[in-house]
Amino acid sequence: MTGKRTIRSFVTRKGRISPAQSNALQQYLTEFALPLEKLALVSHQFPNNQPLTLEIGFGMGDSLLEMLLISPNRNFLGLEVHEAGIGHLINEAKRAEVTNLKVIKCDAVEVLEKSSASVFDRIQVFFPDPWHKKKHHKRRLISDYFMDLVHRALLPKGIFHVATDWQPYADQMDQLFQLDKRFQRCLIPSRPETKYERRGLSLGHKVTDISLTKMDS
Ligand SMILES: C[S@@+](CC[C@H](N)C(=O)[O-])C[C@H]1O[C@@H](n2cnc3c(N)ncnc32)[C@H](O)[C@@H]1O
Repeated sequence: MTGKRTIRSFVTRKGRISPAQSNALQQYLTEFALPLEKLALVSHQFPNNQPLTLEIGFGMGDSLLEMLLISPNRNFLGLEVHEAGIGHLINEAKRAEVTNLKVIKCDAVEVLEKSSASVFDRIQVFFPDPWHKKKHHKRRLISDYFMDLVHRALLPKGIFHVATDWQPYADQMDQLFQLDKRFQRCLIPSRPETKYERRGLSLGHKVTDISLTKMDS
């Protein structure tokens, strides 16, 4: 692995949590949370041993919930650092009685560093924080080091899917991916529209999806 990052792609803020989200965290977190110590055995934490998707930064989780419902034959591990989003997602997941979801409240970089190799069939990052200002570009999640971690955690032929509405970030990723011969471009899997995406579209932004498959080595 090259150039380990120490700068985080998010800032921890004490966001407002609604009573419903707070209640969900108290009542359902033990059911849905995957403790980091059990990450090595992630596949055993679901009722069925189905292909596993990792979603990084699910925000409020509405689009992840849609995926859970339309793909009962897949398991999903969702990562988010903000509690309001986790509370919202597990509240809806409980209501919908889904059994194919686990969540971790943790920095994705740390989770990927602790993950076993070759476990995820898909890793998806929808609308990572764009960090518009030049002085903040170092905070962008998608980097050489992040792609080392993605490569290690993906199964051979596994898919990495990223979407952004910020063209300069899309261009940066494009350049990074062109140089990375461990992956090949592949057909973009369908996905639901996300909350952040709707905001971007309303501002007239163009959305770019990129999908890569991990080559056999
Ligand atoms: C711009 S929002 C997009 C949310 C959602 N995917 C959507 O499209 O509506 C980016 C999200 O990624 C989360 N995030 C940023 N860096 C992260 C990291 N290193 N690990 C986990 N989540 C992270 C943020 O908390 C935020 O909720």
